[in-house]
Amino acid sequence: MAQINPSILSADFARLADEARAVEGADWLHVDVMDNHFVPNLTLGVPIVESLRKATGIPLDCHLMIEDPDRWAPQYVEAGAGSVTFHVEAAAAPVRLAREIRAKGARASMALKPATPIEPYEDLLSELDMVLIMTVEPGFGGQAFLDIMLPKIRRTRDLVARHGLDVWVQVDGGVSASTVERCAEAGADVFVAGSAVYGAEDPAAAVRGLREQAAA
Ligand code: DX5
Ligand code: ZN
Repeated sequence: MAQINPSILSADFARLADEARAVEGADWLHVDVMDNHFVPNLTLGVPIVESLRKATGIPLDCHLMIEDPDRWAPQYVEAGAGSVTFHVEAAAAPVRLAREIRAKGARASMALKPATPIEPYEDLLSELDMVLIMTVEPGFGGQAFLDIMLPKIRRTRDLVARHGLDVWVQVDGGVSASTVERCAEAGADVFVAGSAVYGAEDPAAAVRGLREQAAA
């Protein structure tokens, strides 16, 4: 079934606990960690993930847009993340890192920026629980969805199927009522939505709406 992960990047950072409760019923809470080096924006780190973990029952899906994920990703598992995504462009040893994340008890996921192809990483898929396909350049919420990423979503889904793996395919960036169906048709099964959820009058209803559309 389609999973909808609201991104708290579009939430009010002074009211994160309330904002997490506002999307009860969501599958995961997507937490965008940015370090102002890998991307030109700065958001939050380990202590806030620890606090969020205590404030909400929704599992945390941490998306690390940071340099040196080999060093930092394990700390996000220890802070309570249920899933940790590192960017393959930034990882020095992605296989070792995925194994470490899994060994510590979280789902391991690899993200690809728009210009990064999936094919060189085919042999890594068996080490992963999820692949995140960026459908905007990482760094900011509220950007327009890049249609040209749809074939990469399809190729990723096909590779996962060809290897008989249970790897989720997540899309992140510009996912909304007008793009979620195309993502689902292309083979995505996990949908991150920031502005489309937190910009809505009723965020929980927006989550339900996106889930219905993705499943249609
Ligand atoms: C962007 C982040 C996304 C962002 C998505 O770099 O990784 O998770 O919050 O926001 P929307 O859904 O508004 O594009
Ligand atoms: Zn993200």
